[in-house]
Amino acid sequence: MDKERKLIIAGNWKMNKTVAEALDLVSGLKRECKDVKEVDIVVCPPFTALGEVSKAILDSNIRLGAQNMSEHNYGAFTGEIAAGMLKEFSVRFVILGHSERRQYQKESDALINKKLLAAHGASLKPILCIGETLAEREAGQMEKILATQLRGCLSGLPRQQMEETVIAYEPVWAIGTGQTASTQQAQDAHLYIRAVVAKLFDDTVARRVRIQYGGSVKSANARDLMSQPDVDGALVGGASLEDRSFADIVKNSI
Ligand code: PGA
Repeated sequence: MDKERKLIIAGNWKMNKTVAEALDLVSGLKRECKDVKEVDIVVCPPFTALGEVSKAILDSNIRLGAQNMSEHNYGAFTGEIAAGMLKEFSVRFVILGHSERRQYQKESDALINKKLLAAHGASLKPILCIGETLAEREAGQMEKILATQLRGCLSGLPRQQMEETVIAYEPVWAIGTGQTASTQQAQDAHLYIRAVVAKLFDDTVARRVRIQYGGSVKSANARDLMSQPDVDGALVGGASLEDRSFADIVKNSI
């Protein structure tokens, strides 16, 4: 598949995998994906496995991501992890604003914006998650929700840092439900997101920014989704927990 932007496929392991299991998974992935050059492959293990996974993927084509970070750089914030601490493990990406954190930890666009700026301050590339719920989609509010999330989360971001931000469009109703957005629904949302980025920044930035689709991506639907002109990769949950299924998504996307 010939794309203007390099595909980026990331595995969000969520709260799964002990260190031993994580090492098993990446060793399989390294084997399965060793010849892949066309795709940026990222794994996002839980914090507890970052150190060992980081060592295991040295000299491979797999990059490391975290699932969250604090908006603060250091200090009295019990239980939090700062961007600088992630950098110690050669983490390059960080998922921010995942709908599960918006829902369970009540993360707001304003907080996610602070985290995004802190991530860039430490040269970490954010994977910014946005997406509407089923009720919002059915009420015809999808565009309004996406625009509000983008405006809030991207506020004050310099254009260079916008280009290095990855956006993950994850319709909440498609996450972990087996109900994928249709390729047309994904393409329409991505095109809209790119238009909002063009309005907030400019056309060049919008053309360069990578937009992933997330929500029940599996090997069977990866090719169709990635063939859409504005879909530049995937953020994969459930199907990233097993080496074969994640590697098949990567390979089927090329
Ligand atoms: P899923 O999760 O692939 O299991 O739907 C995607 C995500 O939450 O990033």
